[in-house]
Parts: sequence; C-alpha cells; structure tokens
Amino acid sequence: MVSNFGSQINTIIISPRRWGKSSLVHKAATLARKQNKNLRICTLDLFNVRNEEHFYALLAQTVIEATSSRWEEAVGNTKKFFSRIVPKLVIGNDPSNEVSLDFDWEEVKRNPDEILDLAEKIAEDKGLKIVICIDEFQNIAEFDEPDYFQKRLRAHWQRHQHVAYCLYGSKRHMMLEVFTDSSKPFYKFGDLIFLNKIETPYLIDFIRERFTATGKAIDEAACRSIIELTDNHPYYVQQLAQLSWLRTARRCTEGIVREAHSSLVEQLSLLFVTITETLTTQQLNYLKALIAGERAITSTEVMYRYRISSPTAAVRSRKTLIEKDILDNKAGVVSFQDPIYAYWLKHSYFAG
Ligand SMILES: Nc1ncnc2c1ncn2[C@@H]1O[C@H](COP(=O)(O)OP(=O)(O)O)[C@@H](O)[C@H]1O
Ligand SMILES: [Mg+2]
Repeated sequence: MVSNFGSQINTIIISPRRWGKSSLVHKAATLARKQNKNLRICTLDLFNVRNEEHFYALLAQTVIEATSSRWEEAVGNTKKFFSRIVPKLVIGNDPSNEVSLDFDWEEVKRNPDEILDLAEKIAEDKGLKIVICIDEFQNIAEFDEPDYFQKRLRAHWQRHQHVAYCLYGSKRHMMLEVFTDSSKPFYKFGDLIFLNKIETPYLIDFIRERFTATGKAIDEAACRSIIELTDNHPYYVQQLAQLSWLRTARRCTEGIVREAHSSLVEQLSLLFVTITETLTTQQLNYLKALIAGERAITSTEVMYRYRISSPTAAVRSRKTLIEKDILDNKAGVVSFQDPIYAYWLKHSYFAG
C-alpha cells in the first residue's frame, strides 16, 4: 500500500467492519508521507453520505483542507480552482479557524466536473501528489442513478496523473459488486486487497508487548484464550485484552480472561437482543444450524432437524443475513461477523 500510495496506483480494500481497514490505511498513509514530503492524503468517510451533493461537498472540502496549510490559502485555492461553481467559504469562529465550503447545489449538479478534477488541478499546480482515501465507498451504489454517477467518477479519475485513490468498505457483497462486475464502471479500477483477520502469532506478540509496556504480565494460555474467544477479530481482541488488563493487578491468568469475557458478553447482550428481534424464525433456524457446525444446511436431514422449511428458504435466509452484516461470505464459506454474538446465541439465546 505504501508503494501504491507513492506511485499513484489505485488500491481497493475489502473486509468486514472492525478488521482494521482504517488503521491500515492510516498507517500506510503515515509511512508514505514520511517517504515523500510532497504527498498529501485526503481521507473521507461516506458512512453518512447518501447522495451525490453531499459526496461532492465532502470531497471538495477534504481536498481543500488537505492541500492548504492555512485558511488564507484555502480561500485562495477556492478562488483559483473553481471557475464555474462559486463555493461560499464559511469560516468557523473557533481558534482552529476551521473552514468549510458551502455550494449552490443546483450549480454543482450541473457542473460536478470541477469538483471531481479539483485534486488533480491542485496537485499539478502545486507540484504535489495526492492520495484520496474513501471509507465505506460502497455507499455510492445507493445514490440515485448509481451507474451513471459511477461512470462519471471513473471517467474523471482514471485520467488523473497526480492523484491516486484508495477505496475501501466493509460490505463485502456490495464492494464486490462495484469492483468485480465487468459490466460496472469501477471494474478493474485498481489493486484489490481482501484484508484478512490478524494471525494468532502477531496478536500474541501484540498483547504481550502491551502488557509488558505497562508493567504487567500475561500467561501464554491467557493470551491464547483472548484470541480464541474473539476468533482473531482485531477489534474484539483489543477490547477483551483491555478488559482483562483492567482486571489484572500484576499477572493476567486464563481465569481473569474468562471473567472479562463474561462481562463483555453481558455488556453486549442488550444489543444482541435487539438484533435478534429483527430476525425471522427461518433466519434464526438457519443461524442455529450454522452454530451447531452443520455444513450441508440444505440436506433433508439438517433442514428437518432445524425446521428449515425448504432449500429456497435456507438460501434466502443466508442472503438476508449476509446483507444484514450478521454473516460473512468469503468465497462460499459462511461465518459469523461478530464472534461475541455467535457466542451469545450459542450459550445464551439458543441454550435457554
Ligand atoms: N494491527 C493491529 N493490531 C492490533 N489491533 C488492531 C490492528 N488493526 C486494527 N486493530 C484493532 O481493530 C479495531 C478496528 O480497526 P479499524 O481500523 O477501525 O477497522 P475498520 O476500519 O476495518 O472498521 C481498532 O480499533 C483496533 O483496536
Ligand atoms: Mg473504518
């Protein structure tokens, strides 16, 4: 990624949420900037962006911010690089002098080209290289006329010589649709990276190091149990490690990890109840079969045992559960996205 950032190669990263995409992009950006003083990184997150207008505003705003060192410069940039649309600069009154841009939306809709090429123009003018990192990129597939919009983005972006794009997102099925469907505009836009969970030996070193650095120690078994109970899920490894650390005076044992884990499950159970209430009986039956370790869920015997009404119903449940981000489908292997939810279903919900 560092080398892609430095040599203007587009990168696409796909993984479920909380596996470490943002952390990875941030780290790569920091390293790439150290290697190249003329590199600027713009980061925008589309998690709450639902339409084109909002997207353009955010893009323009972040590009201006990342390429201007002071607000006077931002004002200058705004005058210099926009000719058809005239954004209004809104200057915040706090000491950090935050600048934001306000656009006439009708104008922007007629001329979005200036915004789409803004980074390239600024980079050219100032002798910079720019990497634009866009989180939750799959959201663009839900704008009005998504194909038309994507065509437009791609047409502009692929001509850029000084700007590279790093596009990532956590909805695997939607990201795949945007980037791997040969009939879609973003097909073959860049290097496609499927981020995996972090492997056990790295996590062991990481947890050990954090305990040692803070004057505490952790047993090998305790360390392994943190990783097993969270199924190598990076976010939960951190959380369970932290809860265990808080309960540890000097040396963390397996017993402490088990207590911390119970309290984590307890703490999340209310949220899990809420999620579970949104599921249909068929979907729950499917999850039950999956948790029991069944592989051939559409076999007559398994369907009978778990009251799954038909193979079609099983397929439909699976599809919806993936869309709801409860399950993850990685090359045909279905697994739970949230290891603590899986644990709660097995030991609390289905056990009761
Ligand atoms: N390399 C790593 N080592 C240890 N923990 C990590 C690492 N990368 C990410 N994490 C943990 O995973 C959590 C989620 O990472 P984040 O980058 O926010 O994921 P995403 O952007 O995929 O949702 C972080 O808050 C951090 O606790
Ligand atoms: Mg993220």
